[in-house]
Amino acid sequence: MRCVTVVGTRPEFVQIGPLTAALRRRGHHETLVNTGQHYDDNMARVFFDELNLPRADRDLGVGSGSHATQTGQVMMALEPVLLAEKADHVIVYGDTNSTVAAALTAAKLHLPVVHVEAGLRSFDRAMPEEVNRVLTDHVSTVLFAPTHEAVRNLAAEGRVEGVHLVGDVRVDVVTRAAERARPRITALLADLELDQGEPFALATIHRAANTDDEVRLRAVLNALDRMPIPVVLPVHPRLGSRVSSFGLSFGSNVWPTQPLGFLDLIAFLAGSRIVVTDSGGLQKEAYLLSRPTITMRDSTEWTETVDAGWNRLSEPEPAAFAAAVEDALSRPPDEHPDLYGAPGVGRRMVDVLEAL
Ligand code: UD1
Repeated sequence: MRCVTVVGTRPEFVQIGPLTAALRRRGHHETLVNTGQHYDDNMARVFFDELNLPRADRDLGVGSGSHATQTGQVMMALEPVLLAEKADHVIVYGDTNSTVAAALTAAKLHLPVVHVEAGLRSFDRAMPEEVNRVLTDHVSTVLFAPTHEAVRNLAAEGRVEGVHLVGDVRVDVVTRAAERARPRITALLADLELDQGEPFALATIHRAANTDDEVRLRAVLNALDRMPIPVVLPVHPRLGSRVSSFGLSFGSNVWPTQPLGFLDLIAFLAGSRIVVTDSGGLQKEAYLLSRPTITMRDSTEWTETVDAGWNRLSEPEPAAFAAAVEDALSRPPDEHPDLYGAPGVGRRMVDVLEAL
């Protein structure tokens, strides 16, 4: 098989390992295209290094911009690459602007699109990612769903053919990374001058809905500052730039860091008591490592983590957030159901593609 895999952002870099390795192991040809949506070393290169990913064969150098600019530029730069590659499958991941742009470009060239992490829905069309998910699923020919819920979501929209429940690639990625990452925590805490053994929370905030409105961002930062345990906060560039442009600052209970590589993030996650986030991927990684989570959004595409009692949605409003923190810090649920399938997801996906 000839495959083109298109990636562009942190969550995509984190996820490609299992399928890329399985494709190459079985002798298939893969061209890896990086759109360049994320371009800082600590948003991009570090993931390729730490996760031993192959270098991208093509870098489209698209970078930041409005949604239309970013999406349009990926489409324009990718089209000649896809025309030259004559791929049997164009593989995309998740729900970013790079994802939807690549899926649309391929579909309009009548190339089969494979969507990894298909069928997720937050049912909130105000999230750009929700629009990206729906559009990508509906132009894809192979839909690799991570959960039963995702399969049901696709069926509700009339998508049944081409849907394969394979489990979640992060099961493989997180399990492997956790073993390598755990020993790092001692040095990481020492660097931050946090006491070893002192309970702490890990927080990440990067969504426009939380960062781009000054009143909302102030409420989010206050919520973190009032938490009863210290908060380690890797700062996404968008968060950092909004904090400085609004003239805000992090409170004394918050330990900001540069954006973290994957192994350092997993080390902090494994060492934390609870997680506060608006990320999709981190909600799931926290579940896989049994960390109670508060998601600072009013919807989530990972609803099964909420149903299982390990994740709860909360606004930054003080009373609601304090109640969510207390709930998360109290005894975790007795049950930790296997929501995301067994390891070996990359291999199962290649089995499906070969059978086609
Ligand atoms: C994107 C994805 C989001 C994903 C997130 C992970 C979309 C619509 N959203 O959001 O689903 O959870 O990636 O991080 O695609 N910036 C830098 N350096 C970089 C990259 C970005 O400084 O290497 C800054 C720029 O100011 C940029 C802003 O961050 O405008 C936002 O980046 P962008 O790629 O547009 O979206 P994310 O918020 O990262």
